[in-house]
Amino acid sequence: MDFFVVPDAASTGAIAAGIVAAVIRSKPEAVLGLATGGSPLPVYAALAAHRLDMSGIRGFALDEYVGLPAGHPQSYAEVIRREVTERLHLDPAKVSVPAGAAEDPERAAAAYDAAIAQAGGIDVQILGIGHNGHVAFNEPGSALDSRTRVEALTERTRQANARYFASPDDVPDRCITQGLGTILEARQLLLVVSGADKADILHTALSGPVTTDCPASILQLHPHVTVVADEAAAALLGARAVNGTTPVAVRSRAVGV
Ligand code: GLP
Repeated sequence: MDFFVVPDAASTGAIAAGIVAAVIRSKPEAVLGLATGGSPLPVYAALAAHRLDMSGIRGFALDEYVGLPAGHPQSYAEVIRREVTERLHLDPAKVSVPAGAAEDPERAAAAYDAAIAQAGGIDVQILGIGHNGHVAFNEPGSALDSRTRVEALTERTRQANARYFASPDDVPDRCITQGLGTILEARQLLLVVSGADKADILHTALSGPVTTDCPASILQLHPHVTVVADEAAAALLGARAVNGTTPVAVRSRAVGV
């Protein structure tokens, strides 16, 4: 595991985007795994500044709400369109989001893993982490080998995401999420974390046991993981950015993870 610590959330974008850009330069038809949430936004902004040829790039979103009408501004299909597809000038036909508005979401979920496999698998999967350790929408209790499926959202996750909706009651209670097993099949995982409120869970995920209680602990099982965290999120792992400006790259053992 490689671990980069930067002074603040904005700086996570430059480091993580550099990693994604390197993948794209070495493979112009790379398949990107796309995360929503606030944490990856600086990554997409910084990646756009690289002005790479994105015409061959494919993208697969991690998850989607079930029950929002197509075109709802907070559906992840719309978030991905605004924040990723348009910003990075991806070909919309090459970007997939689980079909949460489908008549049969279970069936749509089952087809998603097959579509990823057909695209050759994901080269680099961008990830965030929820306060309860969820990755994508894999809530605690999700099986470590789970596949893309329909899941219920916990109240905690619904509350955390209520900030994007007019009323907390508007947050859907179901989703389609890539499974933990699906995520583990990506060739590289890139976790982006910021904020003091994530320090506890980041510490638990990286240095606690691998357990379904903390889905993000699956990161410990993957051979090619890069974590980019700001100082506040990395505080309990004992890693600090140097001089407040230079990112520190430390091998996992140096931070006890
Ligand atoms: C959401 C998403 C996750 C994301 C997480 C954390 O519910 N489904 O993919 O990683 O919450 O979001 P944030 O980065 O805004 O804290």
